[in-house]
Amino acid sequence: MTRLSQERVLVLDFGSQYAQLIARRVREQNVYCEIVRHDISVEKIREHNPQGLILSGGPSSVYEQDAPKCDPDLFNMGLPVLGICYGMQLACDAFGGKVESVSTREYGRAELTAQVTTPLFQDTSSQQQVWMSHGDQISNIADDFETLAETSTCPFAAIKHRELPIYGLQFHPEVTHSPEGGTILRNFLINICQLSGSWNLDDFATETIAHIKDVVGDQRVICGLSGGVDSAVVAALLSRAIGDQMTCILVDNGLLRKNEQAAVINAFTEHFKADLQVVQAEQRFLETLKDISEPQEKRKRIGYEFIKCFREEAKKVSGAQFLAQGTLYPDVIESGAAKDGPAATIKLHHNVGGLPEELGFTLIEPLRDLFKDEVRRLGLELGLPESLVWRHPFPGPGLAVRCLGAVTKERLDILREADAIAVEEIENAGLYRETAQAFAVLLPVQSVGVMGDARTYEDVVAIRCVDSEDFMTADWSRLPYDLLATISTRIINEVKGVNRVCYDISSKPPATIEWE
Ligand code: XMP
Repeated sequence: MTRLSQERVLVLDFGSQYAQLIARRVREQNVYCEIVRHDISVEKIREHNPQGLILSGGPSSVYEQDAPKCDPDLFNMGLPVLGICYGMQLACDAFGGKVESVSTREYGRAELTAQVTTPLFQDTSSQQQVWMSHGDQISNIADDFETLAETSTCPFAAIKHRELPIYGLQFHPEVTHSPEGGTILRNFLINICQLSGSWNLDDFATETIAHIKDVVGDQRVICGLSGGVDSAVVAALLSRAIGDQMTCILVDNGLLRKNEQAAVINAFTEHFKADLQVVQAEQRFLETLKDISEPQEKRKRIGYEFIKCFREEAKKVSGAQFLAQGTLYPDVIESGAAKDGPAATIKLHHNVGGLPEELGFTLIEPLRDLFKDEVRRLGLELGLPESLVWRHPFPGPGLAVRCLGAVTKERLDILREADAIAVEEIENAGLYRETAQAFAVLLPVQSVGVMGDARTYEDVVAIRCVDSEDFMTADWSRLPYDLLATISTRIINEVKGVNRVCYDISSKPPATIEWE
């Protein structure tokens, strides 16, 4: 897809854990932005035609030999530049300032005194809380710079070039612990880059629908459905753009949640006028997973079988030239496939469910510029039901990675029942939207119990429920004890073969959200 918005800002990524967060914060100000490699050339920057640049933080020290640098001509392009932490130190270094290591790494909240008469700090407080996270700081700025803010330990907490529109912040305006950071970013975008801040998802939908129409013409498009929000939003966009020229394929691999196939068919037939093909593939997947317990091997086999199934079904759709996928911006960044994007290694296990290029279709990925929260908002604007839009994410390999040990129909059925009870009770308690992901895991152990007068030796189910913004980090949800008690009692009473329920109280890191 071509990028349709006129106004944009580029975020140069110097390896910051916060680069994606910066991009999201910029978009929250209704300014479109993209993340690019830190060493992008000035010529390439011009091709993007941005109105401003943000240099992210990063773990390196500017005075180290191999420290990541930007094209030095970038500072002479006349474009407004905002350096954050490492990005600020880089700008300072480029103009002859001095950056040094501080004896103790400064990490946490700090009290900032800012010159609020300057455009960068407009409408913020002269004393404000900010979040610091650095081991180096500027010990001397070049004469070209002036100071805009300081803290008790950091004399150059915000700086500005006297002539050029180059600004630097030692603190992180993008994190919530800098409560006025959003205003500071907005000031940079509106006051300094002179952007209108008018990018919105309505325009995005209209432009994207027109673009799909244009590209597809009278050809047929295949769209893989998963039951999740991303593929549903893709289908909604396609349905608006090309109506019944779309064929959707849902592969039921037997690893879906309880009633999921029916729910997708219902949601789908209510909202779209298109051809839906459901592939009943449970047997094939159970066969390929027989006697396999090793998590990565499960994933590989599921991925392989999925592609085989999809390929067979797609062949039956005559004349299809295009394949639509719900790839999101974080996937694009993580896979290093972003134009000029940092070449990070994709996590093997998050690849499952993707389709290879060899299928021979031209890909349509209308969400590849969006973050998850933007996809949800877009789904609501396109009229999708809240229940679908706010559905918790579900991994491509499905229940197989929540059924620890052997994956059999019997064990999957136990897991499906326990999972449905846990989610239903969390919904009943009004906590589904507040939590990021909630599910049951069937453990590969049995434990002793007593039911009536008899000894039992049965399965153990773990409940996992986490709070998370981006799924890169997560904390276990502090569910009320009474809710946990109801979940446990119901599972043990209603799911035959389970006599014990545990609650997972591990955060990510060091644990992951899924157990496999
Ligand atoms: P972890 O377990 O790595 O999960 O903390 C982070 C998020 O990714 C989801 N997940 C997957 N999604 N295919 C997917 O499409 C996968 O193989 C996969 N593994 C984990 C997980 O549910 C959580 O939302």
